[in-house]
Amino acid sequence: MEENKKVIFSGIQPSGNLTIGNYFGAIKSWVKLQDEYDCYYCVVDLHAITVRQEPKELRRRTLEVLATYIACGVDPDKNTLFIQSHVPAHSEAAWLLNCYTHIGELSRMTQFKDKSQRYGESVTAGLLDYPVLMAADILLYNTDLVPVGSDQKQHLELSRDIAIRFNNTYSPTFKVPDGYMPEAGARIMDLQNPAKKMSKSSDNPNSYVLIMDPPDIVRKKLSRAVTDSIGIIKYNDEQPGIKNLINILSTATGKTIKEIEKEYDGMGYAKLKNDVAEAIISEIEPVQKRIKELLEDKDYLESIYKKGADKANYVADKMLSKMQRKIGFVPRAR
Ligand code: AMP
Ligand code: TRP
Repeated sequence: MEENKKVIFSGIQPSGNLTIGNYFGAIKSWVKLQDEYDCYYCVVDLHAITVRQEPKELRRRTLEVLATYIACGVDPDKNTLFIQSHVPAHSEAAWLLNCYTHIGELSRMTQFKDKSQRYGESVTAGLLDYPVLMAADILLYNTDLVPVGSDQKQHLELSRDIAIRFNNTYSPTFKVPDGYMPEAGARIMDLQNPAKKMSKSSDNPNSYVLIMDPPDIVRKKLSRAVTDSIGIIKYNDEQPGIKNLINILSTATGKTIKEIEKEYDGMGYAKLKNDVAEAIISEIEPVQKRIKELLEDKDYLESIYKKGADKANYVADKMLSKMQRKIGFVPRAR
C-alpha cells in the first residue's frame, strides 16, 4: 500500500537548460526509486526567481523540465509530478518557517555566500531565504528521504534543524528528513575544469553537455574536454579529467570502471573522448525525441501537472493547517 511507502521529495530549478549532470546524477536515479517509494518531484519555479529570469524563458523551461522528467522515465502514474508555484502552501509554509530560522544560519550557507559575492549589495532577500523555501518543500510532505547532490547537503541539514526546532517549540509536527545520496560515480564534473561539478550555470558552454545538445555539439564539446599530459587511461585522482570521462562512460554504458580501464589500456585520449561522446549521444537521443514530442502535446503536459498539483495541494494543505493550528492561528471558517 502506498501509505506504507517511504516518501521521497526532490526538485530541480528551471533556471537553466538541464545538463547530463542533472540527467545522470539526479533524474535517472529517480526512475529506480519509483516503485519502492512514494515520490514527489517538483519543478521549483519559486526557487528559480531568486535570480532574475526572463518570463518567456522561465515558462518554456518550466515545461521543459517537467517534460524531461517524463522523457527520462519518471512515470507520471507512479510519481507526483508538479510545479511548485501551483501549490501555494509552499510559499505560505516558507513564511511560517522563516519565523523559526535565524539570520545567522542563513547567512552562513555556502551557496548564499558564493552568490552574494557575485551580486554584492543587490543580492535579494529571496536568495538569503532560499533554504527556508526548500525546507517548506520538504517538510510539507512528511518526507523521509531527499535525493540531492553534495552541494545541497547544507540546505538539507538546515531543513532538519528547522523541523527539530519547530517540533521542540510545539509538539512533534514534522518528520525529520534524511539525505539520499545516489550511488558513487553519478557526480559529473565540468569538462573544462574537472575539479568543479558540471553545472548549467557555468559561463563557458564547453564546460557542460546539455540534455538537448545535438550530436555534433556533444562531439565537439567532448573533443575539447580538458585532460592531462600523462597519456594513460587510468581511474585516479591525479587525472581528474580522465576520471570524469571514465565515470561518464561507465554511467552511460553500464560498464564498470575496471572493464573500461582494461578495454582502453594502451589507447589514446581521442578514442576515449570519441566513445564517451557516442555513449552520451545514444543515451540522450531518445530522451530528446521524447521531450520534443511532449512539448508539442501541451494538453497532455497540462493534465500531468494538474493531476500532480491536485494531489500535492491535498497533502500540503493538511500539513499547513497543522502548522497554523500549532502556532495558534484562529482556524479559517469553512
Ligand atoms: P541543480 O542543477 O544544481 O539545480 O541540481 C539539480 C539536481 O541535479 C540535484 O539533485 C543535483 O545534485 C543534480 N546535479 C546537478 N549537477 C550535477 C552533476 N554535475 N553531477 C551529478 N548530479 C548533478
Ligand atoms: N535547491 C535544490 C537544488 O538547487 C532544488 C530544490 C528545491 C530541492 N527544493 C528542493 C531539492 C527540495 C530537494 C528537495 O538542487
